[in-house]
Amino acid sequence: MKILGIETSCDETAAAVVADGVRILSNQIASQVEIHARYGGIVPEVASRQHVLAIIPIVDQAMAEAEVNWSDLDGIAVTIGPGLAGSLLVGVNVAKGIALARGLPITGVNHLEGHIYANWLIDRDAGTPLFPLACLIVSGGHSDLVLMRGHGDYVVVGRTRDDAAGEAFDKAARILGLGYPGGPAIEQAAKGGAASIELPRAWLKQTNDFSFSGVKTALLRLMEGGKISSLADAAASFQEAVIDVLVTKTVAVAKEYRVKQILLAGGVASNGLLRNRLTGNSPIPVLVPEPILCTDNAAMIAACGYYRFQAGKIDGLDLDVIPSLKLA
Ligand code: KG4
Ligand code: ZN
Repeated sequence: MKILGIETSCDETAAAVVADGVRILSNQIASQVEIHARYGGIVPEVASRQHVLAIIPIVDQAMAEAEVNWSDLDGIAVTIGPGLAGSLLVGVNVAKGIALARGLPITGVNHLEGHIYANWLIDRDAGTPLFPLACLIVSGGHSDLVLMRGHGDYVVVGRTRDDAAGEAFDKAARILGLGYPGGPAIEQAAKGGAASIELPRAWLKQTNDFSFSGVKTALLRLMEGGKISSLADAAASFQEAVIDVLVTKTVAVAKEYRVKQILLAGGVASNGLLRNRLTGNSPIPVLVPEPILCTDNAAMIAACGYYRFQAGKIDGLDLDVIPSLKLA
């Protein structure tokens, strides 16, 4: 079964063809990062205009790379939320147009659910993920600890109470003047430094929730007070503080719910220290998609769409965007 996935929730215009929910036939991504970098963050109106320009060529490229025709496809999966309304609308309308023209079934995918399903696309020698599992989703807009007992079955057992992990990386990079997007900038800068600066960790004991606004504010105070002599040390210390909490809480949840596996997902999951630390500190097996499948892409949307079709979740052509869509 071949599914065309379409993703336009934020600043990547992406299309992919995935076979049977696990095999990537193509994975095309047009990034707008250089355009938004000029403004130091995503400008929603600019993002939707760029999606309009990029979407048709990207879909064509995904079809060509996969060497498939429209008649080879069995369905279309498209992100309906959460995300920027104007951006989501571009992908959803193109997906509906193709579905209508080719008589293909369509299914609307939750972007966060898509991030989780990137783990179904990884090295098949490791097999597909085993339920029950715990997934840490860390992206620019979300930091959720999710318990999954089967396909489409999610219980959010922990979440951030303020900034998302990726958002914290982006803000810290801005404070340190390291540029946008902040996650890769902090990781790069940290390579030349040591985590020698003491920064607070919000443990929020008795809960599985996160809070990252305190560590960001502490960094800002140090920077404003002229107390930071090495940007590399500051980046390394910040990265360490955020990842320490993410890893400790994820392992605790995995033990509490006696899961078989831990999955890592979302843009921050491409961070090398987070990947190594979680894999190294967990007594429970950890699955991590390759970095290009952690950040926004359409292969993960197609993979998720496959399992939705398997469950009979087909949407009508009245499918609409839901910018504030939640998981479960
Ligand atoms: O999942 P994603 O591509 O888009 C959203 O759905 O938000 O995540 C983007 C976020 C950004 O905040 C970015 O700074 C962060 O992921 N990120 C990273 C790294 N690469 C991307 N954070 C830490 N380390 C990285 N290497
Ligand atoms: Zn994302």
